Amino acid sequence: MTDTQQATQTAVIEAKDVVAGYLPGVNILNGCSLVAYPGEMIGIIGPNGAGKSTLLKAMFGLVKIRSGSVHLGTQDITNLRANTLVEMGVGFVPQNNNVFPSLTIEENLQMGLFLRPKKVRERLGVMWDLFPALHERRTRSAGALSGGERQSLAMARALMMEPSVLLLDEPSAGLSPVRQDETFIRTRRINKTGVCVVMVEQNARRCLQICDRGYVLDQGKDAYTGTGRELAKDPKVIELYLGTLAEDVEGAKGEDPKLVKE
Ligand SMILES: Nc1ncnc2c1ncn2[C@@H]1O[C@H](COP(=O)(O)OP(=O)(O)OP(=O)(O)O)[C@@H](O)[C@H]1O
Ligand SMILES: [Mg+2]
Repeated sequence: MTDTQQATQTAVIEAKDVVAGYLPGVNILNGCSLVAYPGEMIGIIGPNGAGKSTLLKAMFGLVKIRSGSVHLGTQDITNLRANTLVEMGVGFVPQNNNVFPSLTIEENLQMGLFLRPKKVRERLGVMWDLFPALHERRTRSAGALSGGERQSLAMARALMMEPSVLLLDEPSAGLSPVRQDETFIRTRRINKTGVCVVMVEQNARRCLQICDRGYVLDQGKDAYTGTGRELAKDPKVIELYLGTLAEDVEGAKGEDPKLVKE
């Protein structure tokens, strides 16, 4: 999408100059902005402690925004509560503690749609198609799942409500390279169904390969933004955040065919 096209299009979700923090007088986000347009998959990378998770939590109403704003389409959603945001079409998958371990897979998914019980059967069908491995194990308790399966279940649970935007915090963390790839491919497939994705990733190289655009966060601010290729070519981004990994991203021409053909 060109800059001109974006300028005329309403963002799906947009954080503007967000200042937020946990403790009184201590700001973690220092005027952080991010925008996602229809159909986009956005990656957020940056050093540990940069405020990546805090940004997602602030957008999802879990950390109080002290100044700045978050809009969902044309609606101001700044500091709305998470349960309201879920009803409005925002899905959030935190990195940890994202499933109910004592419930079965199917019960976890039903919980994802407790607000609209009549739609459960239809949405379950969609989820079983997207995540066949979960269907096979649907009567097992979520506590017995592997890290990757748990991550799939958490994503499926958020998708039950048919969100227009999905916020994902490090979906590939702790997974083997093969499982990481599966997670990226599945996330891209979900994005292609029309769900806008905003994803924090510790795997910067992979993230820049698969996402439409990326943001580099540093000290609570969006330090750099651009397409994966643009970021990978930027000498400052390379020096500070990517190191030699940048060559790999460039080598892949910004797109990994295995990932984008899905
Ligand atoms: N619940 C909390 N209470 C107080 N401070 C917190 C809390 N959670 C995070 N912080 C602080 O906010 C800063 C940013 O944390 P955040 O988790 O957003 O970083 P991050 O970019 O997601 O890092 P990582 O890559 O390690 O996940 C850190 O200094 C962290 O110590
Ligand atoms: Mg984090």
